[in-house]
Amino acid sequence: MLELASVNGVVTTLVDAKVPLLDRGVLFGDAIYEVIRFYNGRPFCLDAHLERLCHSAAGLRFSVMLDTDRLRRQGLALFEQSGLLDGRLYYQISRGVGSARSYLPGPGLQPTEIIVAESIHPPDEMTYAEGVSVVTAREIRWSRTDLKTTNLIPRILVRLDAQADGAYEALWVDDQHFVLEGTSSNVFAVFGGVLRTPPTGSGLLAGVTRRIVMEQAISEGFPLQERPIRLDELLAADEVFLTATTPEILGIVRVDHHTIGSGIPGPVTQKLLLSYRERVKGD
Ligand SMILES: Cc1ncc(COP(=O)(O)O)c(C=O)c1O
Repeated sequence: MLELASVNGVVTTLVDAKVPLLDRGVLFGDAIYEVIRFYNGRPFCLDAHLERLCHSAAGLRFSVMLDTDRLRRQGLALFEQSGLLDGRLYYQISRGVGSARSYLPGPGLQPTEIIVAESIHPPDEMTYAEGVSVVTAREIRWSRTDLKTTNLIPRILVRLDAQADGAYEALWVDDQHFVLEGTSSNVFAVFGGVLRTPPTGSGLLAGVTRRIVMEQAISEGFPLQERPIRLDELLAADEVFLTATTPEILGIVRVDHHTIGSGIPGPVTQKLLLSYRERVKGD
């Protein structure tokens, strides 16, 4: 098993991969990305991630359409070549390599396509059983949070704050005190058996895991609402959990040191995690 990278089709080990200095991803973070989890050698929701990659490319006004069929083929081949079974593919596509350091891209740029097959380090089972702490952070990102770009400085800053506080994640809270999502996860809360998650279009990334969890919730018969959640409501919820490709579904048991529910992941969180894990086996 070997972590591999492909840069415009040139495959090397991950540590040997090279990108030109004038690549706009390197200079400006003018790039988009996706992370796809593999279970037992098979990708989960690869097409949904490639669709979101196209959405992000259109949002950044890339002039070249992404060839998703080829990206899918190259990604699958790279993952197979790596010999990994449980791991993930990382796609990063920048607008391309300029001839000088200039904000304006100039004509004829070809996107730089990076694909990485890498191992993953999801939380251990004890963490799933005990749940995690999170902190809240005032929303300081730009308004296009529906695009998955590599411009991640606000995320890095609040994750450093979270780490200093011993927290697993930070939740973005807007000026109206609505909880939007985590730095790399979406958020759900349970109120009297009713699941609620903030709606897309309210300042969050439409997570692929979020969508699958919503489908699973419906098929498990849980009432589900896509409605904003105020921070004071979240603190009073019976259960809170986050969703994302790598950690799947993870109970949140403390928000800013305030205990949620009974202080351990609740029955809805546990049921949905089981149901999600069944789903990934079947897809
Ligand atoms: C800001 C943000 N929200 C939500 C998510 C979860 O998305 P997904 O479920 O597609 O992994 C991510 C993933 O990295 C993210 O960066």
